[in-house]
Amino acid sequence: MIIDKHVHTPFCPHGSTDSLERYIEQAIALNYREISFTEHAPLPKNFIDPTPEKDSAMPLDQLHAYLEELGRLKTYYSSALKVNIGLEVDFIEGYEEETTEFLDEHGPLLDDSILSVHFLWSGEAYYCMDYSEDTFEEMIQIFGGLSKVYVAYFSTLKKSIVTDLGKYKPCRIGHITLVEKFKRKFPNEQGLSGYVLPILDIIADKRYELDYNGAGFTKPLCLDSYPPASIASEAYKRKIPLVYGSDAHSTKGLMQGYQQLERNLLD
Ligand code: MN
Ligand code: MN
Ligand code: CO
Repeated sequence: MIIDKHVHTPFCPHGSTDSLERYIEQAIALNYREISFTEHAPLPKNFIDPTPEKDSAMPLDQLHAYLEELGRLKTYYSSALKVNIGLEVDFIEGYEEETTEFLDEHGPLLDDSILSVHFLWSGEAYYCMDYSEDTFEEMIQIFGGLSKVYVAYFSTLKKSIVTDLGKYKPCRIGHITLVEKFKRKFPNEQGLSGYVLPILDIIADKRYELDYNGAGFTKPLCLDSYPPASIASEAYKRKIPLVYGSDAHSTKGLMQGYQQLERNLLD
C-alpha cells in the first residue's frame, strides 16, 4: 500500500488538466492507501512570479474552489482512499510576513502541507531555480558560479526551516536537493554532505519531516531522487520521517520514481 504526500492537480497552471477524480481513481488502481494533494499555494500578492508565463502557482481566486472540490471528494472517496487536503507553500526570502498571514488565514482548512524553496534572490532579482536548464545556467552567471547557487539555495532552505511562519507552518520540507535538478549538465564537485548534513540536524531537532521525492528520476539531467539515497539514509539515521512524494503533475506521474527509491527508508 502506497502513501504519496506530494501531488499536484488541475489547479496547477503549469500542470495537466487531469481531473481530481481521475487522480483519485488512478491512485486507487495503483493501490494507494493515502494521498495528499499539495497544489502550489498562491504566491504572495506583491511577489512577481519570475517565470515567463507567470504560472508557478495556483491563482488566489481559485483557492476556494480547490479547497471545496477536494473537501467533497475527500468525503466521497473516504472508504477507498484517505485524501488529505494540502498545499505546497513557497518559502520566499523577503515574503515571510505575507506567507505567515496566508498560512494564518488558510492553514486551519489544510490537513497536510509542504514547505518548498523554488525561488532564489540574487540580491537584485528572484529566479525560479527549477524552471529550466537555461534559467539555471543564467543563475550560475548571475550568482557568480555554481557553488554560489548552491550556497544561496541551501541558505534559503535553512531559513525556510528556522523561520517562524506561525502555527500553521508546514512541517514537511519539499525536495531538499532540488538545486540538483540539472546536475548531469552542471555537476557540483563539492558533494552535498557539507551543505545538507547540518540542515538535516536542524530538521531532526525541529521534528520536521522530509519529502522523499521521486520526480527527479524522470528529469533527464537529474535521474535521482530528492534527496539522493545517501542523504536519505543520513536523514533516516537522524530519525527524520521520510515521506514519499511523487510530485505528480498529471495522473501518469503518480508513483513516479517510487520503485527507484530506497523504500526501506520510508516512514
Ligand atoms: Mn510544479
Ligand atoms: Mn516543488
Ligand atoms: Co510539487
